[in-house]
Amino acid sequence: MRIIVHTAKCQGHARCWAQAPEIFNLDDEGYILPGAIDVEEKDELFASRGARSCPERALEIDCT
Ligand code: F3S
Repeated sequence: MRIIVHTAKCQGHARCWAQAPEIFNLDDEGYILPGAIDVEEKDELFASRGARSCPERALEIDCT
């Protein structure tokens, strides 16, 4: 699974990080770092929870 990060939509809510701090890396001001995130199968549950928790829909789950 891969998570596409739409950095322009991020408002620094940090809900993604609260769900999965080892998956979602934030900068010093609490905004998500740019770049797609490749998620290992064992981490998919927490990663998808984190992605879905973003109120700005900045984190798109790509299962292709
Ligand atoms: Fe940003 Fe959404 Fe996470 S606004 S810090 S991507 S919860």
